Amino acid sequence: MSRAGDASRPIGVFDSGLGGLTAVKELRAILPGEDIVYFGDTGRVPYGSRGRDIIISYARQDIAFLLAKGVKIVLAACGTVSSTLLPEEATGLPVEYLGVVAPASAAAARATRSGRVGVIGTEATVASGSYQRALAGIDAGIVCTTAACPLFVPLVENGHFAPGDRMAEWAAEEYLAPVKAAGVDTLILGCTHYPLLAGTIAAQMGPGVTLIDSGREAALALKDRLEAAGLLARTRQLGKADYYVSDEPTRFHQLAQIFMGGADDVPARRIEIEDYHL
Ligand code: DGL
Repeated sequence: MSRAGDASRPIGVFDSGLGGLTAVKELRAILPGEDIVYFGDTGRVPYGSRGRDIIISYARQDIAFLLAKGVKIVLAACGTVSSTLLPEEATGLPVEYLGVVAPASAAAARATRSGRVGVIGTEATVASGSYQRALAGIDAGIVCTTAACPLFVPLVENGHFAPGDRMAEWAAEEYLAPVKAAGVDTLILGCTHYPLLAGTIAAQMGPGVTLIDSGREAALALKDRLEAAGLLARTRQLGKADYYVSDEPTRFHQLAQIFMGGADDVPARRIEIEDYHL
């Protein structure tokens, strides 16, 4: 018997806002029978420009909310939280807690041929050094170049992500210059908002650079963890997904469908996240 005890419980996923939906989209594709509870902290986004203590206290409230929903595992589908509240430091939780850093780093180490890997993320993610440590732990020969892209999250949250969006293109040109100059052949999208900008980022990086989607890699790792723990849902029925946010849900509702690839309607309910504590 696992710690969570019941394979029919939902998977809990959270992010500071919409970005974690890129992981939910992957989870729906690879684990269609699973129920999912998603929390997007739209009232407190962005996390990536905040200090460590605030990010950890927000993350603990987000986890507390998901635990109150009875989840069997928690995925921090947020590069910032994954880099700040590390899975090995989040001890004492009643269920397993995963982040995006380890799975994305493993995928990048597999993908690179030159050993030059780039990482883009929020200021907090880059300052934490989480990806450098994870990549060095896999292969000490990997040379890692990082770049913070602080305007990418607000651009995405405000709908500026379609290929050809001039504001997104301008930001990408500025921010990606150091990783381009380093000649990376693999670029980790170390923030779960960034897959929405993948077209713009790929155009800027040029051909021959593999983009690693951290949300997708985390979703695949989560499937492995559920399998190993005997916690995969035993059903042939399509699972349901419930979405919760901490601000009024209109904008989330408008943009979430795009994040999810247009497939699902994504109605969200507002909750008072400050009421939850571990
Ligand atoms: N999706 C979050 C991440 O992966 C966005 C961070 C933020 O809110 O600044 O880092």
